Amino acid sequence: MIEILPEDPCRDASEIEALYDYTFGPGHFAKTAERLREGTSSLPDLSRVGRANGCVIGVCRLWPLKVGSDAVGAVFFGPLAVDPAYQGEGVGQRIIHHCIAAATEAGWPAGVIIGAREYFEGLGFSAQHADLLTFPGPQDVKRVLTIGLADTNVTLRGLVRADKAVC
Ligand SMILES: CC(C)(COP(=O)(O)OP(=O)(O)OC[C@H]1O[C@@H](n2cnc3c(N)ncnc32)[C@H](O)[C@@H]1OP(=O)(O)O)[C@@H](O)C(=O)NCCC(=O)NCCS
Repeated sequence: MIEILPEDPCRDASEIEALYDYTFGPGHFAKTAERLREGTSSLPDLSRVGRANGCVIGVCRLWPLKVGSDAVGAVFFGPLAVDPAYQGEGVGQRIIHHCIAAATEAGWPAGVIIGAREYFEGLGFSAQHADLLTFPGPQDVKRVLTIGLADTNVTLRGLVRADKAVC
């Protein structure tokens, strides 16, 4: 059985890093996405891991952002990774659904993700207003998606940056 649980930083951190290295390869993450994580910390209460037989087999971390001149609060999803041995079983989708529910319940207005449009559009994200966003580095707009969480009417626009005040 695969359980989806909040990240326990003490217990999960090294397994999560190993899973990221394994699924993406070392030194893998896109530079612009990394700049949205630099100088801040992920939100373990909102991040989710998949566990099977006591091991971390999937993860998605959430990070605090501010967007635009109004500094609208948003969470940055990712990276999402699932152990190849468990891919194609819906684990990635379950993890994202749990993250969306947790961030919505915690009152975060919106979310941003950088990833494959075909995958994340099916999970509630939209590419509709992606071109309203700018990033602290080069970013392929075709990989940018947003989602309304606690505020389903929000339209994010402007510069997306890490919210260093939260952590
Ligand atoms: C992307 C990833 C997280 C998907 O996890 P998963 O648990 O295998 O996904 P699910 O079982 O929930 O969904 C599987 C479906 O998504 C599709 N899918 C997987 N990766 C995809 C991608 N990059 N683009 C489009 N569709 C994708 C599969 O083809 C499959 O489709 P099907 O159901 O029609 O056969 C996993 O493949 C992974 O860890 N990849 C390496 C890391 C990565 O690229 N992460 C995403 C960047 S944020």
